[in-house]
Amino acid sequence: MGKVRRFSISIDRELLKKFDKYIREKEYTTRSKAVEDLMRSALVEKEWFEGKEVAGSIVLVYNHTKRELVAKLTDIGHHFHEVILSTQHIHLDEDNCLEIIAVKGTPAKIEELRNRLRATKGVKHCSLAMTTTGREV
Ligand code: NI
Repeated sequence: MGKVRRFSISIDRELLKKFDKYIREKEYTTRSKAVEDLMRSALVEKEWFEGKEVAGSIVLVYNHTKRELVAKLTDIGHHFHEVILSTQHIHLDEDNCLEIIAVKGTPAKIEELRNRLRATKGVKHCSLAMTTTGREV
């Protein structure tokens, strides 16, 4: 974090009341941290929108006993090796697997990977957490 700068803003009283309730529910202890996080979220969203280099994680759940599924997922992984940093595989039970794929690259490539994995028959759920490389925010 750079140097801290204080500033004051004028805001609708009712909105501030709602915001303070929101930040209490989210367990923030200061308004500053809550506002800072919202500002960073906006900047991260902008990075994704503008096609900057971003990071994230894809989480998928699938049944490994489905025919050909593991081979298909491996093929997709190799095709996208440039954006995949690491993969963690957890055996949830006898049949179900949870995979966490850490990614870094362009939003287009990461979203293409997410789409390919999600559309693969046998994948039960696939989500993408969009975050930042942290360099610009
Ligand atoms: Ni497994």
